[in-house]
Amino acid sequence: MTIRQGIFVPMKILMVCLGNICRSPMADGMMRQIVKERNMDVEVDGAGTASYHVGDPPDRRMQATALEHGVDISYLRARQFVAEDFDRFDIIYAMDRSNYNNITALGTPDQIGKVKMLLDEIHPGKRLEVPDPYYGGDEGFEAVFQMVKSACETIADKIESGEYS
Ligand code: 4NP
Repeated sequence: MTIRQGIFVPMKILMVCLGNICRSPMADGMMRQIVKERNMDVEVDGAGTASYHVGDPPDRRMQATALEHGVDISYLRARQFVAEDFDRFDIIYAMDRSNYNNITALGTPDQIGKVKMLLDEIHPGKRLEVPDPYYGGDEGFEAVFQMVKSACETIADKIESGEYS
């Protein structure tokens, strides 16, 4: 919860990758689960910079890996990032540098200050990427899960501690 224009509103976080079927729905579903478990007033959504998979559920392999760890992401549906998302969200997380560049290309200098690399939450300033698992094997999905989990827990810790408000 944060105060804007004198009223309490939930903090809003957007997770963005390329297709919005692998990495960002994992981050979106993970973050939703964490804030629910911790009873935090935070809204979470996901988007892709590309339109190829709009309306699709998460990739079956990403869904399976998430579910093995007790995270259901089957209900999410892909949508494309739009410039209006800069106004709707407080923090926009890019999974890789290409996503970051594609998002910031759509924003004003003020707006692009909201965009961060997800893994900078656990490796500050390094601009490390969540690797795209789409064309690889199952181990890529497990690696995405572990990175995303660690970053999302850190984000929740920072919101709870008041570092992000
Ligand atoms: P994501 O992975 O960006 O993590 O959702 C991809 C999904 C689909 C494609 C590329 C990346 N694609 O080219 O269709």
